[in-house]
Order: sequence, then C-alpha cells, then structure tokens
Amino acid sequence: MNAPLDLSLEDVAAYLRTQEEKDLLRFITCGSVDDGKSTLIGRLLYDTKLILEDQMAALEKDSATQGTTGGGIDFALLVDGLAAEREQGITIDVAYRFFTTEKRKFIVSDTPGHEQYTRNMATGASTAEVAVILIDARKGVLTQTRRHSYIVSLMGIRDVVLAVNKMDLVDFSQDTFDAIVADYAAFAAQVGIERFTAIPLSAKEGDNMIAPSPRTPWYDGPALLPFLETVEPRRDIADKPFRFPVQWVNRPNQDFRGFSGTIASGILRPGDLVTAQPSGRSSRVSRIVTFDGDLDVAVAGQAVTIVLADEIDISRGDALCAADAPCGVTDQFAAHILWMNEAALMPGRHYLFRLGTGQVGGQITELKHKVNVNTLEHQAAKHLDLNEVGFCNVALDHALPFDAYADNREMGAFIIVDRLTNATVGAGMIEFGLRRATNIAWHDMEITKDAHARQKGQKPCVLWFTGLSGAGKSTVANLVEKRLHALGRHTYSLDGDNVRHGLNKDLGFTEDDRVENIRRVAEVAKLFVDAGLIVVCSFISPFRNERQMARELVEDGEFFEVFVDAPLAVCAERDPKGLYKKAQEGKIKNFTGIDSPYEAPENPELVLNTAEDTAEALADRVIALLRENGHI
Ligand code: ADX
Repeated sequence: MNAPLDLSLEDVAAYLRTQEEKDLLRFITCGSVDDGKSTLIGRLLYDTKLILEDQMAALEKDSATQGTTGGGIDFALLVDGLAAEREQGITIDVAYRFFTTEKRKFIVSDTPGHEQYTRNMATGASTAEVAVILIDARKGVLTQTRRHSYIVSLMGIRDVVLAVNKMDLVDFSQDTFDAIVADYAAFAAQVGIERFTAIPLSAKEGDNMIAPSPRTPWYDGPALLPFLETVEPRRDIADKPFRFPVQWVNRPNQDFRGFSGTIASGILRPGDLVTAQPSGRSSRVSRIVTFDGDLDVAVAGQAVTIVLADEIDISRGDALCAADAPCGVTDQFAAHILWMNEAALMPGRHYLFRLGTGQVGGQITELKHKVNVNTLEHQAAKHLDLNEVGFCNVALDHALPFDAYADNREMGAFIIVDRLTNATVGAGMIEFGLRRATNIAWHDMEITKDAHARQKGQKPCVLWFTGLSGAGKSTVANLVEKRLHALGRHTYSLDGDNVRHGLNKDLGFTEDDRVENIRRVAEVAKLFVDAGLIVVCSFISPFRNERQMARELVEDGEFFEVFVDAPLAVCAERDPKGLYKKAQEGKIKNFTGIDSPYEAPENPELVLNTAEDTAEALADRVIALLRENGHI
C-alpha cells in the first residue's frame, strides 16, 4: 500500500496503527547465484510500490549502465545494494528488507547462494517462518537447492515455497515444471520438509508474482505474493507449554521479588502453577507485572516480570515452565552444530555455550559425523571446518534447562562462543538430551583433597611447562622435581613424550589430537592435585585455549604456567631428537614451529629463557615461585 503524500497527522497516526496491527511474516529467500533471487525480491518491492520515486529514477539510470537486462529495468539492482555485490554481480551478505501490502507486513532476509556463505544463510533462516527456495527452471534441482533445503529444515522452518523461476526461458513448459517438482519432492522428504508449495514464475517478467499469469494456464495454484499474504505458518509457540528463560532477578527492595524475561512459548495467567528448572521447585504465579501495569494473561513474545507466591531460589539462566509439562534439564545432549568460524571446531576444546538466558562452559565430547550439506551423506570427521555441519555430543560444565529444537526453537537453540576472543563461532540445535548424564551422579569420597594434602604436609598444585620442542621443558622440569623430592615433597611428573607411550598412545600431532592430548593430561593433573601432589607437567601445549582449560580445572592459585621460552632457531639448533631436521626436510608433518602453530602464553606466572640461563638457575626460580606462594 502506498501512503498518499499530503497526509494529516491523524492520517499518519491511523496509517501507523494499521501497519502495527497488520500481521508480520518473516521469510527467507535462498537460491544460487543466477537464480534471480535479487530480481524476485526487487520485483516484490517494486510491485508493492514501496520504492520511492527518486530511487526509481536512479534505478532506471543504473539499469541502463550496469543492468543485465538490456535496457529494461533490472530489479536486481534494487536489492544488490552493496557496492561489492554490484561489482561482482553476486550477493555477499544477509540483508533484511521490509515491505508491506494491505494484508501483511513482511521482513525478507536475502542471503547469499555460495557455499562459503552457509553460515549467513543459517543466520537468515533462524528467524524466518517461511523459506522461498529458488530454482532456475532451466537447471532444475541443484546441489545448492539441496544444501539450502537442508539448512532451512535444520533451522526448523516448516513452510517452503519452491519458486521455479525463469519459466519464460523454458516456454512456460508444464512438463519441465512437473519434472522439477517431482524431483524436489523426493528430496524434500529426505530432509524432513513435509510440505511445500511449488509456483512457476518469471520474476523478471512478473508471471505468477502478484497475480496468476495467463502464460501458465495449466497452473491453478496461488501466485507468489498472494501466497505469502495468506500462508499461515505453523506459529504454534503460543500453543506450546509455557517456557520463560529468566533473564534477571528483579529485586528493587525487600518487598518485591520478580523474575524478568521474555516468554519463549505458551500462555501464562496469574494463579498458574509453574516449575522452575533445573531445581524442579514449583509455585503459583501471583502477579504478571509489566511497565504498563499487571496483566491477566501474557503470551509468547511478551516481556514481563513474574512474581511467585513462594520464595523459591531462581537465578538467571533458569527457566520457569508449565508445571504439568516442564522442560528437560541436562548437562549432556546430542545436537547438530553449524560451525561458523575460520578456526575449526575441536572436540575436547572448551567453549562457552549460550542456551536460553544461560551461559556455561562445555565441550564437544564426540563428533559423531559431519553432514555433507550438498549430498546429505554422513562422513567421519575429527573436527568441523567453517560452514560445516556436524552431529555431536555436547557436555556442559553444569546442567541447564532445555527442550529439543524440534519442540521449541527458543529453548533448543544455542550458540557457541570462543572463550578467548568472545566471538560467536557456532550455532547448534539440540536433538535430544543424553541419558547417561542423568544416570551418573558424583560420589563424594570421604578422604578429600584436603585430607590427602594434609597427610602429605603440602599444598598441592600444577606446574605447567609449555614451550617449543627442544626448548628445555623436560630438562628444567626434571631438575625441579628432583629438588622437590629432596625437600621431602610428594610429586609426580607428566611428560609429553612419556604420556604418549601409554595413556595417549592413540594420539598424533594434528590439531585435533593435540587438543585431546592436553584435555586428557589436564584431567589427570587435576586428579593428582586431588591426590595431594605437586604435579609437574611438560607439554608443548601449543594452544592458549587448552592451557586455559587446564588452569580452570583446578582451583585458583593451584596452577602455575611456566613459559619455557627459547627462540625457534635455538631449539632447531639444539635439535636433541633430530626432529627439527626431519621436519625441515618434510619427513615429519605438523611439527610445532615449522608447520604447526605455537601460541605463546600471554600472562604466564613465570618466563624462563633457556637460551640465556642455565637449567639449574631456572629450576631455582621455579622453586622460589612455589616458596613465595606457600606451596613449599
Ligand atoms: S603437544 O603439542 O600435544 O603438547 P607433546 O608435548 O605431547 O605435544 O609432545 C611433544 C613431543 O613429541 C616433542 O617433544 C617431540 O619429541 C615429539 N614430536 C613428534 N612429532 C612431533 C610434532 N609433529 N610436533 C611436535 N612434537 C613432536
């Protein structure tokens, strides 16, 4: 609908009100580079008359100079707003566009077709209710069509439009259309797309865009825009059991205590019985408070503060649920994960997981397989690269409330954040909680860490030596342990080469294996600290992330990172095991400092330069550090 130009204030207010009341549909368009996606969106914008006149003039001018339509209006130029896109003739990012008709408001996310933009597509799909998947009628179902459909299905979109575009180039042939639809139907079933609406189109010429085209008399379905105006996406979040992830505990004074957040699903009324998860404690809702006063009823999407009749212990990250259908609670689950970062996902590496309003550390304990997003084949994998999708088991440091993604998008989706850079590196969808988590309890032993330590008359800790191969870690560590032993201390030494003869015999030197190497060793070091020992660890441990994880496994003040710093040239010159020579000749792969990275510590407790000082002098400094901190 186009607003007249000379509007009174009342008119404007009335116009805005009708706009607000109109219902909103979010959809995503997916297609490959030349499917005509931008033309399709441009046409929708144009035909719904939302393009301003000056923009039209610019468009006509641009179409003449840059257009690909031989002088006619190139609608793609409307959408391909970014300079880089226009230069390369492709769309490179997620763009959200708004348009409106008399019946509905629309937000369309336009996402790039190339495989390297899978993550952008998933981002666009995560908020969409309907997906328009474009197909070039001349090309039919392509690899990209499959990839897009898979991601769309993974992201929980249940309403798909198969827009068979460029019908003008196949003479509006019904046979061509039918063949494509049959082909797609077989595939859609495989990825769990239960229903789709196929429409023969020419976005460029406008056939079946706004109204039925006389050139497809054999087609009796809806045109695209009328379909989008009337489709009822399965918006069942209000029908689902009540879920409310608690954002914060609102306690301005002793007399008021409420839980603030946004209702993820369901309906809530005062008097309803709710259960807080993970605690499982229940209470009745006494008030639903908002800025504009108390409510008699609140539904999914509303931001409210809930007051309960009883004092129950609830904190940020917990969820209030319908008492007769509470969500699950788990610290282990199986999930599909889409990896969005240049640095690969490593099983065993510690990440932050944000689920609902909760945030907790955790790791991928098992990468069961990765999914070839083009063929849907399951493939064995040790890590996930950028834009790859994997099916994984995840273990969190403590349990959080959750639902399976299929049951509740809000409660079953999570993002993965890198602990050091704070960047979002992945997105996941929970398939199911793992039972093993619920059947294993922690058994408190009566002989505690303190008891072990007291008997040995010492304060246990980890001395973690990190540095390049040949830097002198084991040499200094050995001297340190000898001195501690002579002082009557109880110690144990974990050394890279030695541990790899037994516990870690199965591991090599790929990034994945090194992550797992350090994960296991850090867990062992923690057990030895628990046993009351001073643990001397010497590992290259090239990654900050795993060293940080080792530090966090023990208590504050129990971990000393000792950076054994010797220049690469010095290590290569010493070459005690002849490995640098082999690595330089290409006989050993993934050698640290040669063709595998080493991330130097940023804040180690101690830096030892073995090129400048003797091993004896350096060992003295380590002993002094332990003395200063009261460990000996
Ligand atoms: S780590 O990177 O996973 O921490 P770790 O300390 O266990 O390595 O083992 C390193 C030792 O393995 C080195 O001191 C060296 O003797 C030997 N080694 C064999 N191949 C490699 C390699 N490709 N890179 C580094 N060290 C290697």
